[in-house]
Amino acid sequence: MQTTQLWVIFSLFGIAKLQSNTDVQSLLTQLFTTNNYNTLIRPSTNQSAPKEIDINFNLYGITDVDEIEQKLTTTGWLEITWQDDLLTWTPASYNEVEKLYLPQGNIWKPDVSLQNGFSELEELGSKFIQVYVHNSGFIMWRPFQVFETKCDMNSKYFPFDEQKCHLMFVSWSHASDDITLTQSSNGIELSEELNGHGEWEITSSSATSDLDGFISRVKFTIVIKRKPLYTIMNIILPIILLALLDIFTFKIPADTGERLGYTITVWLSFAVFLTIVSDSLPKTSDSVPIVSIYIMIQLFMGTLIVLISTVEAGLVANPESVPVYNILRFIALRLRRNNVKSSEDMVMKIDPEILEVTWKEAITAVDTCLFLICMGIFFITTIICFLIVAI
Ligand SMILES: *[C@@H]1O[C@H](CO)[C@@H](O)[C@H](O)[C@H]1NC(C)=O
Repeated sequence: MQTTQLWVIFSLFGIAKLQSNTDVQSLLTQLFTTNNYNTLIRPSTNQSAPKEIDINFNLYGITDVDEIEQKLTTTGWLEITWQDDLLTWTPASYNEVEKLYLPQGNIWKPDVSLQNGFSELEELGSKFIQVYVHNSGFIMWRPFQVFETKCDMNSKYFPFDEQKCHLMFVSWSHASDDITLTQSSNGIELSEELNGHGEWEITSSSATSDLDGFISRVKFTIVIKRKPLYTIMNIILPIILLALLDIFTFKIPADTGERLGYTITVWLSFAVFLTIVSDSLPKTSDSVPIVSIYIMIQLFMGTLIVLISTVEAGLVANPESVPVYNILRFIALRLRRNNVKSSEDMVMKIDPEILEVTWKEAITAVDTCLFLICMGIFFITTIICFLIVAI
């Protein structure tokens, strides 16, 4: 009773197209048995004309960006559509059956494959993926895939670097006068649930089609940009702070025992820290990141500071009977002169022969100069490196 009522309602609104399994069965028999559909035949009634295949790329997420192997791993699916002249029917003859879903192996499909793939050349999709077939002959095939592509990366400007990678699809065995590939979108379609990558963000994408020799090709380009915050917080900032600490060695009196301990401690933390962060730096020898050069400069300065401190510790222990080196005495007197600016005429009368300079005073004067020089080098290198990398 209820079923009858529903049937009446549906018929009134004309929504119901109650097709039975036999309608689909007879359609399949017509297409595959009577018409004898052959997956080996390019499905054009005019075999002289090239078959046009349209490809769109839907990106689901960036899985991995590998600077060492120069590899980009993306997850997504292709939307490949074409016209199959041999899979058409009039729905009216089959109780309004308008569409079919068939396993991808059961119909002709183009041998689209990734040209710049990282691993073996493989057939797209898998056996269980079904292809949508419309009665007009419109076919839609959506193989989902993890694409591993070769991508030339340059990490010179790490962590402000931007990489441009291509995903190139070709019809592997066919020349362009048999199969032409086109792209109907002008970029990569980003899935609504795009899986963001912690370190990279997508800035733009594009799609073009061209000819690679005799082969028709569709090229999807994706531009990704590194998010620099993590690197700045975890690598660059600590190194800047350590370098600053190191420079302040020169503010500790040279005759205290603390000083050598302090410099060595800072140097060691530098070394330990470098071991920890070396994993986060891009490991390529082709384009050394400027950040690595910066770290090396700071480490080099740290080493110099340790050496200078050691030498100074030896000098400051000299007895007064040993005369102060002329160069040290000169620096000390220059500094003393600068400090006594008020008595202008005293400055003129300074006579290196008369004025005594102790070892301690000389070393303190040298320290003051070195402090300023190191500060200067530190600021200049930091600013220059930052400007090169960020612009
Ligand atoms: C078949 O395609 C070729 C090439 O596009 C064209 O020159 C020819 O006219 C077509 N033949 C028919 C019957 O449409």
